[in-house]
Amino acid sequence: MTIRAVVKGIGHYLPERIVENAEFEARLDTSDEWIKARSGIERRHVAAEGQTTSDLATRAALAALADAGMQPDDLDAIILATSTADLTFPAAATMVQANLGMTRGFAFDVQAVCAGFVFALANANGMILSGQAKRVMVIGAETFSRLMDWTDRSTCVLFGDGAGALILQAEDGSGTNTDRGVLASDLNSDGRHRDLLYVDGGVSTGTTGHLRMQGRDVFRHAVEKLAQTAHAALDKVGLTGGDVNWIVPHQANLRIITATAQRMQVPMERVVVTVQDHGNTSAASIPLALSVGRDRGQIKPGDLIVTEAIGGGLAWGAVVLRW
Ligand SMILES: CC(C)(COP(=O)(O)OP(=O)(O)OC[C@H]1O[C@@H](n2cnc3c(N)ncnc32)[C@H](O)[C@@H]1OP(=O)(O)O)[C@@H](O)C(=O)NCCC(=O)NCCS
Repeated sequence: MTIRAVVKGIGHYLPERIVENAEFEARLDTSDEWIKARSGIERRHVAAEGQTTSDLATRAALAALADAGMQPDDLDAIILATSTADLTFPAAATMVQANLGMTRGFAFDVQAVCAGFVFALANANGMILSGQAKRVMVIGAETFSRLMDWTDRSTCVLFGDGAGALILQAEDGSGTNTDRGVLASDLNSDGRHRDLLYVDGGVSTGTTGHLRMQGRDVFRHAVEKLAQTAHAALDKVGLTGGDVNWIVPHQANLRIITATAQRMQVPMERVVVTVQDHGNTSAASIPLALSVGRDRGQIKPGDLIVTEAIGGGLAWGAVVLRW
């Protein structure tokens, strides 16, 4: 008998305010056509003034709990993937824990930028397999709008705010790749590329800072590394792109998503795409896409799913799971 971390519930939350590409045309030298053609993005949600990452995460967490039919104290742990925690510390996960009224267990943040949800999911799986926790909520939540330089057309049109959450529970499996739950993961980082995508603020500067990106270089790394990591994770359990029902990729750029699917020889009909409506919501993008994909009726129980993401660090990775 093998223990598996099986998805028991999922939910998401998007802030009310939607910013269409056209809004940028008024104040920047850009166009709806350029943004759509180069990134696939048409609109993004932006948090209201005073609405924090932990607020978004709490809304997504409540939706996931309702979906699973669970109470907050049924959870043993909350792992929140974010690069935009409300404060430098404590972890935004502890704020979510308090907001939910959860009085037991533990909560902490994972910071691997856009790959954060994949890293958090792999960690949650490890905790369940080692017996440290039976039920873990994994959240991705971000307010990247707070990190934008709104005068920089090469970055500010690309990002958005949002949150998604899923609940994993320990269940018995057979130990084969037909089991439901997390089957494999592959995590990587290479700090030599840290200057390609970073925020020029933090404790060392005494400012929050703004996101800075060398888009063309990040694009090149993404196209190469995402298919590699997805294949590496699939290989670990004897599966290939042909076995995949859905790629649920990090939603940064439609051209990266398409190129990765091509390299994996998976047709676009089997890729969950939300980037047109959400923009790049960093660590929130995969749980948002999983939740929307489930709500659309795309993702069904038993489906084999590959998630893959890359972001600042560079950090990248993939998780293979059966829904
Ligand atoms: C950012 C990105 C969309 C730019 O697309 P691109 O095709 O690589 O475009 P380039 O960077 O080569 O820029 C082409 C031109 O468009 C211009 N441009 C940049 N942003 C623009 C905008 N919003 N509107 C109009 N023109 C823009 C550039 O200034 C450049 O002009 P130049 O040739 O006169 O210098 C693309 O590089 C990308 O998606 N990179 C990966 C980003 C990403 O996913 N990051 C997150 C990973 S988690």
